[in-house]
Amino acid sequence: MSVTDALTSRRSHPRLSEPAPDDAELLALIEAAASAPDHGRLRPWRLIVLRGSGREKLGEAMAADRPLTERPRQLAKALRAPLLVSIVFCPVTGSKVPRWEQLSTIASIVYGLSLALHGHGYASIWRTGDLLSAPSVRGFLDLAPAEELLGWLFVGTPSDGQAPGPRPVIDMVTKVAFHDER
Ligand SMILES: Cc1cc2nc3c(=O)[nH]c(=O)nc-3n(C[C@H](O)[C@H](O)[C@H](O)COP(=O)(O)O)c2cc1C
Repeated sequence: MSVTDALTSRRSHPRLSEPAPDDAELLALIEAAASAPDHGRLRPWRLIVLRGSGREKLGEAMAADRPLTERPRQLAKALRAPLLVSIVFCPVTGSKVPRWEQLSTIASIVYGLSLALHGHGYASIWRTGDLLSAPSVRGFLDLAPAEELLGWLFVGTPSDGQAPGPRPVIDMVTKVAFHDER
């Protein structure tokens, strides 16, 4: 697959099931994705991989502060893929590299990982939500006070066999300007 084909054919898949990559394959793909541009080589990121009962415990942490009626829904949310990669931003303070640039690095890595997974026949979706800063979730992931949870990359293989509809076309005329000053 060419890089351009990979870029255009990757889609976010909301319903994912087995198979997901094993730890060794996932690590190789993360290593590839970690080659994303990183101003100052600050490495302002880390990832926490959850499978099996790790996902169930995350679901319990997500459900912890919710009304009883909502809990089953929260528990189920963490089980929407066989593999969850928790995305943790670790901003480096006191650097000349501003926070937004550091955020750009971690976002590039996550996107690169989604592309690398796609190239290996898997699918993914980056999910966020209102529970990223919940103390129960942060506590379960053992985040340091300065660390920020940016969501999870849900990883697996599309379970419904359905390809998502065509991606809406972006009108490049409204997005790209060419100024030829020659
Ligand atoms: C930072 C970020 C957060 C996202 N959070 C969610 C989310 O919480 N739920 C969701 O369904 N999709 C989420 N998405 C995925 C986008 O909705 C998805 O990429 C978009 O619908 C376009 O689909 P495509 O990737 O197939 O083009 C998120 C994407 C990004 C980059």
